[in-house]
Amino acid sequence: MKHLFVLGLVASIACHSVQAQSSSTPPSINDKSAFITDLMSRMTLDEKIGQLRLISIGGDMPLTRLADEIAAGRVGGTFNSVTRKDNRPLQDAAIQRSRLKIPMSFAYDVVHGHRTIFPIPLGLASSWDMDAITLTMRTAAIEASSDAVDMSFAPMVDISRDPRWGRTSEGFGEDPYLVSAAARAAVKGFQGTSPKNADSVMSAVKHFALYGAVEGGRDYATVDMSPMRMYQEYLPPYKAAIDAGSGGVMVALNSINGVPASSNTWLLQDLLRKDWGFKGVTFSDHGAIVELIRHGVAKDEREAAKLAIKAGIDMSMADEVYLKELPGLVKSGEVSDKEIDNAVREVLSTKYDMGLFHDPYRRIGKPADDPADVNAESRLHRAETRDVARKSMVLLENRKQTLPLKKAGTIALVGPLADAKIDMMGSWSAAGVAAQSVTLREGMRNALGDKARLVYARGANVTTDEKIVEYLNFMNWDKPEVTQDKRTPAAMIAEAVKVSKQADVVVLAVGESRGMSHESSSRVTIDLPPGQRELLTALKATGKPLVLVLMNGRPLALAREQKEADAILETWYTGTEGGNAISDVLFGDYNPSGKLPISFPRSTGQIPTYYNKPRLGRPFTEGKPGNYTSQYFEEVTAPLYPFGYGLSYTDFSLSDVTLSSPTMKRGGKIDASVTVKNTGKRAGETVVQLYIQDVAASVVRPVKELKDFRKVMLQPGEEKVVRFTVDEDKLKFFNAQLKYAAEAGEFNVQIGLDSAAVKQQGFELQ
Ligand code: BGC
Repeated sequence: MKHLFVLGLVASIACHSVQAQSSSTPPSINDKSAFITDLMSRMTLDEKIGQLRLISIGGDMPLTRLADEIAAGRVGGTFNSVTRKDNRPLQDAAIQRSRLKIPMSFAYDVVHGHRTIFPIPLGLASSWDMDAITLTMRTAAIEASSDAVDMSFAPMVDISRDPRWGRTSEGFGEDPYLVSAAARAAVKGFQGTSPKNADSVMSAVKHFALYGAVEGGRDYATVDMSPMRMYQEYLPPYKAAIDAGSGGVMVALNSINGVPASSNTWLLQDLLRKDWGFKGVTFSDHGAIVELIRHGVAKDEREAAKLAIKAGIDMSMADEVYLKELPGLVKSGEVSDKEIDNAVREVLSTKYDMGLFHDPYRRIGKPADDPADVNAESRLHRAETRDVARKSMVLLENRKQTLPLKKAGTIALVGPLADAKIDMMGSWSAAGVAAQSVTLREGMRNALGDKARLVYARGANVTTDEKIVEYLNFMNWDKPEVTQDKRTPAAMIAEAVKVSKQADVVVLAVGESRGMSHESSSRVTIDLPPGQRELLTALKATGKPLVLVLMNGRPLALAREQKEADAILETWYTGTEGGNAISDVLFGDYNPSGKLPISFPRSTGQIPTYYNKPRLGRPFTEGKPGNYTSQYFEEVTAPLYPFGYGLSYTDFSLSDVTLSSPTMKRGGKIDASVTVKNTGKRAGETVVQLYIQDVAASVVRPVKELKDFRKVMLQPGEEKVVRFTVDEDKLKFFNAQLKYAAEAGEFNVQIGLDSAAVKQQGFELQ
């Protein structure tokens, strides 16, 4: 029905349009290119420029004025509104009141869930389970699309190797291969079988490009990087998302080798469109076009708009700069009609691909079907998020088999994050509602019932520094979210010690409030905040077994904590069902299987500690004197926990690597296999990881690079042969001329259950 309605509408648009070529029949709506060409032939310049404007709901413009602006053809899309009731009048303004009835599109930052919050992306990556990532984004798409959202500003695939950067939490970690796999899985989840489906949202990958490499991990800082590193390590995840069909690209806020991404013609034209063949829509990040003035590459808004449109930014986010400046720039001939048309075509094509021309209301639906309560329990997907959350945790330590805990006796639960609903959700928690998230305290109570006694004390605030609290509460949240217990730190610790002394075991939930791992939340040290450290030391002194449950959005420096705690479980921010999922792991109802997607330095000074670092002339060798080698002399050189690391409640052994041949022909392949065995007493999963080292090449190559992985479930005593195929593609890299090819010679295949402890076998590419 709707389809017919729009077809009729399109026909009527053609008949009544001002510039319509009188007798010609309008092209079929099913012929995308002809349909858009025809539509554009009837658009005025102002209407075209209107399509390039992306407005933030909740910004300066009242909704009534916004509807009038839409009706006047001066808005292409909005973001930040997430109910059908909010978006319907905006779509009505476009469809009923605007001259050409071009549908609006509605976007939102659906980064790790919509109403149901799943683990943060760093946690999702820790699962090394791409189906879990697809399930997360599919569920998010189903929820968001039923709230009238057409597009998600996600996935965020910026490689991050500096955990001081707060946005580390939003990405999938430090490794190009793993982040690329996650990017593909996420796009597949968002878009389903097609982005036009009513239950799909179009994905817009961000932040293009290299945002994760900001100097010193300081948000919005500059990026200066060699082309080889860019191509080999930082660009692949964006490309993976685009190859998987991501219809949108959000451009990064940073500059790249002296040119801001937002005015970077090489980035947005040569690389993105010409080399990669991207045909979708690009938009600036929030206010980034105007920021070209502050970057010092544009003298005023006019020049900023000119640079951005010429570079290839189609839509300008949350500012009026295109609207105000493009008409004059076209009039003066500084910006050509063709440049405007290219941008407009991409905006309209993406709307077309989201199915909006066929049915502008496909995700808005009929008023009669609007949910009475958008936050109704029945709209949540609790089972799905609990399942994914269990997979996203990483067991870092487990001395004396402290975990799993018995559901018996008395358990003390302590810590500022033990009962913190809002922090369970992590940053960018979209339309999630804190009240619906399960805290660890609630989850443990659910798990224990009356089998054991649970005693609780807060023990400390997340931080004792009121300036930090003020900073965090200044962020763009609805209400202050860091709430301070007004008691003195000493009084809180005393209470926690007293409570812990009654218990058989102490579970201590510490880390960061969610705002500490967010945009604009770079940290100078990645230590546990001092007040929480003091609490830990006091609890250690009780002599009770101590289990650390970490909630944080970046690697923390845990050298001291590692010594003091008997067990450490990294939970990141686990989402709506977090407390239940963590309890599943703590009590052994789920055997942890997560592996780190990013390495954990011993100290802030050791950053960066990424595993795939370039080979060196003077590398440090474990067990040998460090003098005149590349290291810091006060500290062990290796990271505290390497990339790919994570324990289980069972043990696994790995055989030596067997290769099907000691040589590989060009275009050929060999098999690399290992036998992995569960040598413990419980069923469990582990991740078998394949790394490759190029022994000698024309340029300096990484010490090793992840090239494949397999998650394997094994019963006690069971063993399985895991066979990887190594083909020439896995050996390719970008050389000094940026040519992507494999060079003949020796390679080492390394297979391990983390990136540090690997078994190795060599072969030769002939
Ligand atoms: C962030 C983006 C986000 C946008 C819209 C910006 O501040 O950098 O990641 O998509 O806001 O909310």
